[in-house]
Amino acid sequence: MELEKVSLCSQAGIPDHVALIMDGNGRWAAQRELPRLEGHRAGAEALRKIVLKAPQMGIQYLTVYAFSTENWRRNPEEINGLMSLLESYSNSELEEIKKNGINVNFIGDLTKLELEVREQLNKLADETKDGDKLILTVAINYGGRAELTKAVQRIVSRVQCNELVPDEITENELHKHLMTAGIPDPDLVIRTSGEIRLSNFLLWQSAYAELEFVDTLWPDFTPAFLQSILNRYSTRSRRFGANGK
Ligand code: FPP
Repeated sequence: MELEKVSLCSQAGIPDHVALIMDGNGRWAAQRELPRLEGHRAGAEALRKIVLKAPQMGIQYLTVYAFSTENWRRNPEEINGLMSLLESYSNSELEEIKKNGINVNFIGDLTKLELEVREQLNKLADETKDGDKLILTVAINYGGRAELTKAVQRIVSRVQCNELVPDEITENELHKHLMTAGIPDPDLVIRTSGEIRLSNFLLWQSAYAELEFVDTLWPDFTPAFLQSILNRYSTRSRRFGANGK
C-alpha cells in the first residue's frame, strides 16, 4: 500500500492522486437567482475542464465526489436532475474522454440508480478502460463508512470460510476490499466552497492526505486555480508520521 511505497519526509512535488469534493453548486446558482440544477450544470462543465487538463498537470489519478449516500435526502427534482446530468454527460463526453486517454470508473453503490443511468455509466467505464493518461474515479452514491462496513463484511466472510485467519487482517488486506482497491491513496484532497470537513469521502484512504479547503464555489473552480493549489502543495513537506528534519 501507499505507506510502503513512499519515502518518508519527502517534499511533496506533483501529487499522483488528487481527490475533489466539488461543493457549492447550489450557492453558485442562488447567487445568480437560478435553479439549483443550473449550478450542477455549471459544476459539470467545470469538472469537464479539470478532467481534460489534469494529465498535463502531471496528475495520474483524479477522484471526484459526485453524489454521496446522504444526497438522497435532497428533493427528488434535484436528484433526478443530477442523475440526468450524469447520464447525458457520460454520453456526450464519451468520445472526447476516449480521445484523451481517460479511463473512467465508478465507486459507490450504483444498484440504487435507475437502470438507464447505470447502463450509460457502465458503457462509459467499459469503453474507456484502455485509457492510460488518467484514471478518473467518480464516486456516486458513495460513503466512506458504507465502504468500510462492506469491506469488514467481506473480510469476515473470508474468515468464516477459513480463507483468512484474523492475524492476516492487515491494512493491506483491508485496502484490497475497498472500492478503491488498486488505486493509490490520495495525496491531496481539495474541498471547495469554504466548508471544512470531509463529509464521509475517502475516510480510510485520506489518512495521510494533504488537505486544501478553498472558498471558491465549485462552478468557478478552474484548471488555473487547480494549478495554483498544486504549486503550493509541491513545497509542502510530507512526513507520514515521521519526525521533521
Ligand atoms: C455539491 O454542491 C455538489 C453536488 C452534490 C454534486 C456535484 C456534482 C457535480 C459537480 C456535477 C457532476 C456531474 C457530472 C456529470 C459528473 P451543493 O449542491 O451541495 O452546493 P451547496 O452546498 O452550495 O448547496
